[in-house]
Amino acid sequence: MNRKYRKTVIAGNWKMNMLASEIKPFIEQLKENMPKTRACDVVLCTPAVMIPAMIKAGKECKVAAGGQDVSKFEKGAYTGEVSASQLADIGAKYCIVGHSERRQYHGEDDMLVNAKAKALLAKGINPIICVGESLEQREMDLTMEYVAYQVKAALNGIDATQLRRCIIAYEPIWAIGTGKTATAEQAQEVCEGIRAVVRKIYGARPARAVSILYGGSMNAKNAYELLAQPDIDGGLIGGASLKPADFATIIAATNQE
Ligand code: PGA
Repeated sequence: MNRKYRKTVIAGNWKMNMLASEIKPFIEQLKENMPKTRACDVVLCTPAVMIPAMIKAGKECKVAAGGQDVSKFEKGAYTGEVSASQLADIGAKYCIVGHSERRQYHGEDDMLVNAKAKALLAKGINPIICVGESLEQREMDLTMEYVAYQVKAALNGIDATQLRRCIIAYEPIWAIGTGKTATAEQAQEVCEGIRAVVRKIYGARPARAVSILYGGSMNAKNAYELLAQPDIDGGLIGGASLKPADFATIIAATNQE
């Protein structure tokens, strides 16, 4: 983290878990376990139908609500889709785009991820743009090349002012939901590389200001060390964000000097 230049963000990704009725008790437990003062923004990204309940419950302990996906279209005949204006209208402040599960199970490519990020920015929602390599790519030493390509493609046509609203999440696919975390060194190396890619496109200042998160089996035990890395500005947390005490411990880990 580097709090002098950029925001620290702890984002939970609930995926297709939990029910709206479980949100209030979750937030109450989170509040009990969370430090009174904290050095980060906290967001929980839920299925779109649960966002209003999250906003209501999250208000008193300053937990923002986010979506997990958005349509690239503005409005119209796209059955089943949720638009950026609809997310903004109910009060979502963030939205994940390009999660590897969307890329893998729903055929999302880099162009679509870019279009979705732009759709969110147009409505004032902060996109959390996910990138990350497969195990095969890592073993073939293609990690940085591939991740750099994903970052460039996702940011294509996004100007420096809009970049200020963007968060990039580095999530190696082999670490997601597997219990296999990237080592702090591995995660730092790629996050630093991502910042270098941003620097090349936008220059030093915007690169210094962009928050880059790590995701992939981040938990109450390993969060402290990961967050101690200079280019890791927070986490995108799946499994551990479903347990209020663990999620609170990760939030507390951002209070380190
Ligand atoms: P995980 O998920 O923390 O359960 O590995 C992270 C993510 O998919 O965002």
